[in-house]
Amino acid sequence: MKVLILETAAQAVARATGFVVTMVQQKPDAVLGLATGGTMLPLYDCLRARHLAEGVSFAGVSTFNLDEYIGLSPDHPCSYHHYMQKALFDHIDIDPARTHLPHGDSADPTAEAARYEALIAATGGIDLQLLGIGQNGHIGFNEPTSSLASRTRLKTLTEDTRRANQRYFDSFDDTPRYALTMGVATILESKSCLLLATGSAKADAVAAMVEGPVAAICPASALQLHRNVTVVLDQEAAAGLKLRTYYHHVHPKGDESAIG
Ligand code: F6R
Repeated sequence: MKVLILETAAQAVARATGFVVTMVQQKPDAVLGLATGGTMLPLYDCLRARHLAEGVSFAGVSTFNLDEYIGLSPDHPCSYHHYMQKALFDHIDIDPARTHLPHGDSADPTAEAARYEALIAATGGIDLQLLGIGQNGHIGFNEPTSSLASRTRLKTLTEDTRRANQRYFDSFDDTPRYALTMGVATILESKSCLLLATGSAKADAVAAMVEGPVAAICPASALQLHRNVTVVLDQEAAAGLKLRTYYHHVHPKGDESAIG
């Protein structure tokens, strides 16, 4: 794992954005795995800005989002379909036919999960998977004790996750209980992963992910088994790391080109 620690959240976001831009510039038909949530919003703002200012193009890019709530149609204002449209897709030159999210309103979520997996494979697999991390160590909606061999499937959300996401809904009761999510093994099949975490609320989860044992209680720790993972952090999210000084030494100021 490459652990890059930047001074501020804005610097961490800019660094993470740089990885995405490099990917689509080097491989114009790249397949990107996308995440939602608060952490990703400034990153999508940066991508929009770089598309506008520098003409960074997404015309040949395909995308697969990690997850979607069960029971919400794509046009529901709290769906991740809607989030992606508003945060990114409406503002860049991406072909809508190449943007994919699981359908949370499918009558048969198990069949939908299988369809989604098959589509990822048929598109050639994910070149760069963007990830956030939950305070409980989830990636996608793979909640603690998710199988590290899991594939895209229906998953029950923890109360903690529902509380964290309640802010987008009218009430806790309105916050969905289930989601369709890529599995841990699905994520690990991506050719590379980029996890962005900012803020002190993520410090414990980040420490468990990077320095804890590989264990289903912290699904993000499975990323230790992947050969090409970059973790981009601000100082606050990095605060719980025991080897912080070492990561600074190896990648001064978050310089990813240094030898790991
Ligand atoms: C969302 C997702 C989640 C979030 C995580 C962090 O598609 O996959 O794993 O990345 O819950 O969310 P925020 O950034 O809102 O703290």
